[in-house]
Amino acid sequence: MSQTAHALQHFADLDDADCEVRIQAARVALGDRVVILGHHYQREEVFRHTDHVGDSLKLSRLAGESDAEFIVFCGVHFMAEVADILSRPDQALILPDLAAGCSMADMANLAKVERAWRELGRVLDVENGVMPVTYINSAADLKAFCGRHGGIVCTSSNARHVLDWSFAQREKILFFPDQHLGRNTGYRMGIPLEQMVTWDFDKPLGGLTEQQIRDARMILWKGFCSVHQMFHPEHIDRFRAEYPDGKVISHPECSFEVCEKSDVVGSTETIIRTVRDSAPGTRWLVGTELNLVSRLHREVQAEGKVAEFMSPTVCMCSTMFRIDPQHLAWVLESLVAGEPVNRIQVPAEEAAQARAALDRMLDASP
Ligand code: 13P
Ligand code: SF4
Repeated sequence: MSQTAHALQHFADLDDADCEVRIQAARVALGDRVVILGHHYQREEVFRHTDHVGDSLKLSRLAGESDAEFIVFCGVHFMAEVADILSRPDQALILPDLAAGCSMADMANLAKVERAWRELGRVLDVENGVMPVTYINSAADLKAFCGRHGGIVCTSSNARHVLDWSFAQREKILFFPDQHLGRNTGYRMGIPLEQMVTWDFDKPLGGLTEQQIRDARMILWKGFCSVHQMFHPEHIDRFRAEYPDGKVISHPECSFEVCEKSDVVGSTETIIRTVRDSAPGTRWLVGTELNLVSRLHREVQAEGKVAEFMSPTVCMCSTMFRIDPQHLAWVLESLVAGEPVNRIQVPAEEAAQARAALDRMLDASP
């Protein structure tokens, strides 16, 4: 067993209270050499150690602006890759648990997207007529694919601006991997549902006819987030029957039906801001991950507000949950020891191409 693996095993046995003390001590030792960024879905015991929190767009910007030698990213793998691409080469990007992935991001891979591009190319002039748009929830090689083909990245908070930018240049969009963000955003821009077709990546030509492809304005990859699939229109109907004055807010990764029944649809940052800014006494039904909703509820309850989780079933993002105090203590103490572990380093050529697509996104964002 290597020294590193031995050390991780040692940390895995620690209880949360011990980790708390060790994390604090390591932070003091590192001072401003380290910055800890965290996504809103992080569990409480990790969240409290973050210097900055945000949605995917905000965290991307923070990574690009940080001066710290070490950026410890409490989130999932694709977010850490983006932070690595946008930070300086002399900064080290650390993901406390390398197994913290994103099941939606895994629903698209380079081989399948390249096959889709080739197959679409038999029906359309893809390079001039189809804009590849990848949700930030995707691997770096898919961002690089977009970079190579004049395409762009989007997040849940700038999707509308990115689609406007895309349609200003090309007639159609290939959107991956989340069909729901694509459909919900396209519909709110006035694109009829029948002009948004779903590309089944396991079938030849996405399971579509050539005519369906020619008629479509958006071709939506058949990916989804399993956490946000847990929310259903019936949950909203039940809430509205019980609380007619209540408000409903959902993340755009939720289904079309859930988003259509919601009063507000927006990114994690938008959800938090909207509930915080609402009138005292407002009751909200919230369709996004449980850690965020529970924390928000604790924050706003003093004003008589309620933030209620949309599903009767507990559904956390299990990969976000992988970042625990044990892994955080381990990576921080490894930095103190001068032996960084769990570095995320996107290969230079891939990073440069992905950066082109990310820079287009940042330029197109408000
Ligand atoms: P946000 O960009 O809204 O934080 O969303 C990221 C995500 O993975 C939601 O499931
Ligand atoms: Fe991925 Fe869904 Fe988790 Fe967001 S909530 S990181 S989309 S699996």
